[in-house]
Formats: sequence, structure tokens, C-alpha cells
Amino acid sequence: MSEILSRPAAVAVFDAYGTLFDVHSAVMRHAERVGPDAAKLSDVWRAKQLEYTWVLSLTGRYEPFWELTVRALDYAFEVVSAADRTTRADLLAAYRSLSAYPEAAEVLEALRAQGIPTAILSNGDPGMLASAVGTSGMTGHLDAVLSVDAVKIFKTHPKAYDLVVAHFGVTGAEVIFVSSNRWDVAGAAAYGFSPVWVNRLGRPDEYPGLNPVAVIGDLRGLV
Ligand code: LAC
Repeated sequence: MSEILSRPAAVAVFDAYGTLFDVHSAVMRHAERVGPDAAKLSDVWRAKQLEYTWVLSLTGRYEPFWELTVRALDYAFEVVSAADRTTRADLLAAYRSLSAYPEAAEVLEALRAQGIPTAILSNGDPGMLASAVGTSGMTGHLDAVLSVDAVKIFKTHPKAYDLVVAHFGVTGAEVIFVSSNRWDVAGAAAYGFSPVWVNRLGRPDEYPGLNPVAVIGDLRGLV
């Protein structure tokens, strides 16, 4: 058993985009057609998509994550003007069928074999989550898919993390919350979860005082 699972764990909850699903796989699937700036397009797309969630939440507004995803892609095309815009529809379709990281299914099953239910808590709206979970073959490996759409405010607002506690009837400390997004780890730590940071790219640490209980290189580090 890993050090992480030696903690009292009632449930293991995963962020979706970037943690179970590779957000850059959408652009990478069409990289040749997008052109040499494909990676830049993907980075701007992701950065703007997230920024929109924080600004809306701080101003007390909400729009479904899919709308923000579409808007962020259009902004990215404006900024990365060399990228081929005729790929727009294909990129959006690819975002609804992102690839899961290769180890995701086996890790989810290993957790469940140890009696720990698995779930997603995501900013994604239910439609896009159902699509990503279904097309990536994750459906049978998850006990719940929770969307912030139920409370109409994005992570890192505590109301978003409340959804886990309400759904599973557990205390915050019993929730192992796994995210590759350091800002999401910070939100989960502030809420009182036991957060695990998946730092695939060896990024520098951030958010002092809102720390993960463990840092792993990929999802296998959980089990
Ligand atoms: C998620 C995104 C924000 O909540 O990573 O799935």
C-alpha cells in the first residue's frame, strides 16, 4: 500500500481535465493541420479556459464550462494567428473525446480493489463530462461523476468541493483529492481535503501554505 493510501481514505476524487484526461490530446490529434504553433495554441486555449472560470466565479456569474471552452479556443485562434482555423470544429469534437492518461483505468481499478470508491469532481458540465468519460472507456471505473454545474460556481470555491462531501457523506480529511492543477490542489487543501498533486512535468511548487499531502509523477504513484 502506498504512503498516500495509509491515510484514512473513504473516497478518491479526481479532477478531470489535465488529471484523468490529457487536455492537450485534442490539439495533438490534429497537430499537423494546426501547424507549427499547435502546442502554443493548446496552451493559450487551456489558460484562457481556466481564467474565464475564475473571473466569472469572482464576479458571481456562471456559464457552462463548454461555452468557456469554445470561447477560449476562439481567443486562442486570434492570438496564435498562424494556427489553421479550419481545424476549429475538429478540435472541439476532439475535446469532447479526450484521451485518458494510459495508466488511469488500472489505477482507478486498483483503488476500488482496496475498497476505495472513485469519482470525478470537475468544472466540466455534465454533457462534456459524460462524453469524455464514455469515449475514453472510463465509465465502469468511476463510482460518481460530479460536476460543479450542480452549484453553478467553479473550483476553487468551497461550494464546488462541498459536492463530494454531500455525495459520499464523508469528512473532508477522508477525501483523497487528486489533481494535476496546482491551483486545484490549493483549493482542495484550503477546503480540508487530503490533496495529491500529479506533477507530470516537474513544474515548480506554488501556493505555499496550501500544500498537497503528496506529490506524484503520474497516477500510479497513488497505489
Ligand atoms: C476540471 C478542470 C478545471 O475541473 O481541470 O476538470
